[in-house]
Amino acid sequence: MTDRKGIILAGGSGTRLYPITLGVSKQLLPIYDKPMIFYALSALMLTGIREICVITTPQDRAQFERTLGDGRQWGLRLVYVEQPSPDGLAQAYLLAEDFLNGAPSAMVLGDNIFFGHGLPRILRAADMQTTGGTVFGYRVADPERYGVVDFAADGTVRAIVEKPAVPPSPFAVTGLYFLDGTAPERARHVTPSARGELEITSLLESYLADGALSVTQMGRGFAWLDTGTHASLLDAGNFVRTLSDRQSQQVGCPEEIAFEQGWIDRDALLAQAALFGKTQYGRYLKRLAGETGT
Ligand code: G1P
Repeated sequence: MTDRKGIILAGGSGTRLYPITLGVSKQLLPIYDKPMIFYALSALMLTGIREICVITTPQDRAQFERTLGDGRQWGLRLVYVEQPSPDGLAQAYLLAEDFLNGAPSAMVLGDNIFFGHGLPRILRAADMQTTGGTVFGYRVADPERYGVVDFAADGTVRAIVEKPAVPPSPFAVTGLYFLDGTAPERARHVTPSARGELEITSLLESYLADGALSVTQMGRGFAWLDTGTHASLLDAGNFVRTLSDRQSQQVGCPEEIAFEQGWIDRDALLAQAALFGKTQYGRYLKRLAGETGT
């Protein structure tokens, strides 16, 4: 484990999910039995990260604080920073600069869901790389909706292209970025794109230009789920439901990860179980604590 800190980017106006997101932040919408942001949070926790900056909008901040608190229930330290307007993913590094204080970071987009046996292993491998950056490539049917990896004939990465009309490969770059302590400084030199945003792909290009970017393939044994459309939001919920009901095991459960890592004790776990009462989630936490449940 390194001194890496986490960032969850939960800004944005969620216009693609209107009218649902007229009154609530996208990252607080349910993915089956828990708020979407729990899954992103879990990815950082599985990496071993305990200090996390949640970037949100001025209007949604209070709801995030109500949902996540200061993180102590999970043995974490959460801080909140507001993004006044959605000016691009790379801006997160400027907003979180004081929080990072020179440390390497893992930034996850609050609407990204990762699942797979072996996920902790690839996350921890990326964590060990404390200089340069690591991103993950995932094969998708619709790469034009994402940042896409352009591979040279010898398999090295030539470029990362944001939402290309003609994708150079089927490999999208997932919303999980492990970058070293130079990210804020590099973000300062990113110029806004044609759509006026500080693009994450421009920041990644800066690492690439220095030969300091690795792309790790997330293979077919992993699920990287999209929540960007009404249909994919529902699909993600159904995916989580199918898995967790079949196995009687939770997906993206911060209490479970915290307990397994020894960040919270049994009493703290039971306090959360009591908070969630007779829900399946509450019963699950009781079972983890060794008490009778389903
Ligand atoms: C963003 C990034 C894109 C990345 C995607 C992953 O796109 O710009 O490079 O592939 O997240 O979710 P957005 O979803 O903000 O359009």
